[in-house]
Amino acid sequence: MTAVRTETPPPVVQPRKTWWRRPWVAPLALLVAAFLAYSVPPYLTLDPAQSRVPAPPGFAAHYGFLVAHILFGTIAIVGVILQVWPWLRRTHPVAHRRIGRVYVFGGAIPSALMALTIALFSPFGPAAGVLNVVAAVLWLGFTIAGFRAIRQRRYADHRRWMIRSFAMTMNTLLSRVYAPIAFITLGPYYSEAALFQAASTLSGTLSLLTLLLFSQWWLDRKPKPAIAR
Ligand code: HEM
Repeated sequence: MTAVRTETPPPVVQPRKTWWRRPWVAPLALLVAAFLAYSVPPYLTLDPAQSRVPAPPGFAAHYGFLVAHILFGTIAIVGVILQVWPWLRRTHPVAHRRIGRVYVFGGAIPSALMALTIALFSPFGPAAGVLNVVAAVLWLGFTIAGFRAIRQRRYADHRRWMIRSFAMTMNTLLSRVYAPIAFITLGPYYSEAALFQAASTLSGTLSLLTLLLFSQWWLDRKPKPAIAR
């Protein structure tokens, strides 16, 4: 009688994609670099005359808060790009932890607190102001929830909250992408003065909704990595 081979073939291990093969890491980093190169330099001069945000009446410290928001925001957005880079997470877990702390305490939390303050005095009208308050509170909440989760070793929760925090870090960038579309679409319906407020509100709303929906879609679609399981 011939022996029947019952061995199952070894599972096929798919080679991990190298970072440059992942189609989104490099384009996202380039987009962030372009956004920072365009947005940040006027504020490095510390000259209020160069600000693209008009000073609102009744809040003398607005410019100081705005500059602080932008500097902490720069740390946050650079940090978060490194944090979502799968190669860095996989091969340098210690760097992931350290950059994570910088992102949370030297970027996202202070920048969100400053955003919350300046949003209350938004020169782009009350609707844009309320929208930014909501976005800043979500950014703060998601980041703190993500940090608490990792302190309590709830890895899957950490991943979920930090993907949402990442999405909120992209809020200003995406609203700048939507802004020209909002200006063109609303242009025929508003006077010049009202157009600025309406377009800021529309681009901010679209940005927030896109990022919330996108992050939820990403979480639902991507299989959980082994560490999160
Ligand atoms: C949820 C996250 C964020 C919120 C809610 C937020 C909110 C704000 C607010 C309220 C302003 C003042 C303008 C206004 O009153 O409408 C502002 C301006 C600005 N923010 Fe943010 N921000 C966020 C994230 C970031 C990040 C991560 C950066 C990265 C550098 C950033 C960069 C800027 C810049 C450059 C300005 C000045 C406006 C300009 O020159 O175009 N923001 N942001």
